Amino acid sequence: MPLPLYEKKEPKTKYIAVAAGKGGVGKSTLTAQLGFALKKLGFKVGLLDGDIYGPSLRKMLPEDKLPFQKDGKIMPALALGLKVLSLAHFRPDEKAAIVRAPIATGIISQFINDADWGDLDYLLIDFPPGTGDIPLTICQKIPLFGAVLITTPQAVSLLDVKKALLSFEEMGVPILGIVENLSYFEEASGVKSYPFGKKGGESLSLASGYPLLGEIPIDEEVSKASDLGKSLCDASFHGPAKSAIESIGKALIKEIEILNKNDLALKSFELEWKEM
Ligand SMILES: Nc1ncnc2c1ncn2[C@@H]1O[C@H](COP(=O)(O)OP(=O)(O)OP(=O)(O)O)[C@@H](O)[C@H]1O
Ligand SMILES: [Mg+2]
Repeated sequence: MPLPLYEKKEPKTKYIAVAAGKGGVGKSTLTAQLGFALKKLGFKVGLLDGDIYGPSLRKMLPEDKLPFQKDGKIMPALALGLKVLSLAHFRPDEKAAIVRAPIATGIISQFINDADWGDLDYLLIDFPPGTGDIPLTICQKIPLFGAVLITTPQAVSLLDVKKALLSFEEMGVPILGIVENLSYFEEASGVKSYPFGKKGGESLSLASGYPLLGEIPIDEEVSKASDLGKSLCDASFHGPAKSAIESIGKALIKEIEILNKNDLALKSFELEWKEM
């Protein structure tokens, strides 16, 4: 009798952390706009707001459909084809979440386990700032495929992102790459200035060995897109941040493919019974 074959089967949805260590460097903006960029490349994408104490993803996205309940499951909100869940969907705007860390991580677990995300390719998780209890527990509870780290070129941001990088390494989460935000400002004349310093992301990339996925300039189109809940991939945007985000999306997919090929993601493989 022929032996049954076990075949390695990769779980379809890849959970990807978007993290910084430091607050206010553009995590939520990158999560939202990277989601749109990946969608433009043809992928099915979901966004999970992991920032329970300062959920801002909802504000940055249009609301084509709010979350609802079906068959005991939470059906995520829809924003231009992206599926989205944030605590902000379930609480009034002005009310802060005053909960201890175990409750906060419980809410995130619920967003993963009790929601019907459907057949996604990528679920991007907007990580809370810091390397405290909540980000560490998310790493333990969610089988992350990898992490994208975002920093500004400034030393104080680099210091914090290095801590985040080390904590992901310690938790065994592969680092997919580094994104530098607020890299420079380009005037209409073409002259560039560097208010937050120069090439911090590149130096971190060289020192750590992780690829620099791209540099996003200071561009009023970014804040405009966020405030209006729009995608930078929309034809109404033409600025340098738009092309930076789109090329970061492509660079990220390239890194994911490399990681897949190298079989480094072995820990996330499942076995599937194959009848002979
Ligand atoms: N490249 C950019 N050009 C212009 N504005 C930007 C850029 N990146 C981010 N911003 C603006 O900076 C602000 C902070 O960004 P964002 O909320 O994404 O940061 P964050 O890291 O998620 O912050 P927090 O730690 O509070 O969650 C937002 O108002 C956003 O619109
Ligand atoms: Mg944020």
